[in-house]
This record gives sequence, structure tokens and C-alpha cells, in this order.
Amino acid sequence: MQKTARTLTVAAIASLTLAGVIASTAYGQMTKKIFAEGVVSEEGSITLPKNFRTDYTMLGAWSVAGDVDTGGEVGLHVVYAPRSAVDGYRKDGSFPDGTVLVKELFKGKTESLTTGEATSAAATAGYFVMVKDTQGRFPDNKNWGDGWGWSFFAADNTTQATTKDYKAECLACHEPARFSDLVYDYAYPVLRN
Ligand code: HEC
Repeated sequence: MQKTARTLTVAAIASLTLAGVIASTAYGQMTKKIFAEGVVSEEGSITLPKNFRTDYTMLGAWSVAGDVDTGGEVGLHVVYAPRSAVDGYRKDGSFPDGTVLVKELFKGKTESLTTGEATSAAATAGYFVMVKDTQGRFPDNKNWGDGWGWSFFAADNTTQATTKDYKAECLACHEPARFSDLVYDYAYPVLRN
């Protein structure tokens, strides 16, 4: 009698624990942010960091000449990272695990000012995000590999990345920067000592 009761108790605890594990795993997959300033979930989906314009450090900016013949506007790309990533890079020349890089694409507004033809940042067109992963955390997720997580967010839907496969959508264009960990770091003055 006593033995049966004990067995039942053990079984009950075991199944409760199992139920708990299943429940917390399912919950975690939906909501738990585990890594990189809370922008990466347990299964590796990346979200656009909130308030990066004010909370991150600006690394630098690119102006991208539009095709004048077709009336193309100049675009501006502005790149940001957390201050801790800048400090890490300045120490040993590489971005620490968990570094988040955000590149915001702006449409340019070009006008004649007292300085000449000057372009300022107008509407946002989208956001590119890279997340440094030195441990290969998500081997089965197609938006992770080559030491980074990769995602693009259109300006009109910042909650859901459109990227499905970084090898097809990102990597080829970043190969020229392979020698500097796939990042065009020479353009970011704050990283220089
Ligand atoms: C058409 C080529 C091209 C594609 C496609 C591309 N990138 Fe880039 N990316 C660049 C270039 C070139 C730069 C730096 C110059 C610039 O922004 O004009 C850059 C810069 C960046 C930066 C700023 C850090 C750095 O490397 O200097 C991030 C973040 C970034 N890209 C993320 C992504 C992600 C994520 C994807 C895929 C979803 C992607 N890029 C796809 C060419 C590309």
C-alpha cells in the first residue's frame, strides 16, 4: 500500500515535471528572449531592437549615390551598435559575442543649402540587423551562420523580419568584407583607436 502510494507520487511528480518542461519550452519558443540585448528568441528569430537610435552608438554612415539618369535619389545608410560592442571591438579588433549591428536605410532628401547640394535623412526604407554568434547556437536556422544572425525588416513591418535564408539574401554581398568578419568595419570611425 505504502509502496504503491510512493510509486504514484513519484510518477505524478515525474509527469508534472514533464508537463512543466513541455509548457515552459513551448512558452519559451514563443516569447523568451535569450541572447544579444533581448533581440534573439530561443529558436533564433531576431527582432529589431527598440530605441536603437537613442540607446546605441552610431558607428557611421554611407551615402549611396542614386542613378541620376533615372532620377534616383541619394540614399543614406546609418549603422548603429551597442556601446559595449564598440568597447569590445576597440579592445581586441573583433565584435564580442552578442553584438547587435543595425543598419537603417533612409531615403535621402537632397536640396540646395548654404553648403551646396546637401542630403539629409528622410523616410526610413528598412532595417538590416546582424547579431554576432561565436558559438553557432542555431545550426538548423537558415538565418544564422558564418558567425552571425541575419535579418531584414521592411519599414512598414518592423515586428516580422522578411529574411528566410541569409545565404541567398545577404551573404554574397558581404563576401568582400570576409577578411573583417563580413562587416564593412573600415567605414566606422568610432571603432578606430
Ligand atoms: C546588394 C548587396 C547587399 C545585400 C543583399 C545585403 N547587404 Fe548588408 N551591406 C552591404 C554593403 C555594401 C554594406 C556597407 C555599405 C552600405 O551600406 O552601403 C552593408 C552593410 C550592412 C550592415 C552594417 C554593418 C556592415 O557590415 O558594415 C548590416 C548590419 C548589414 N549590411 C546586414 C545585412 C543583412 C542582414 C542582409 C540580408 C538580409 C544584408 N545585409 C544584405 C551589402 C549588402
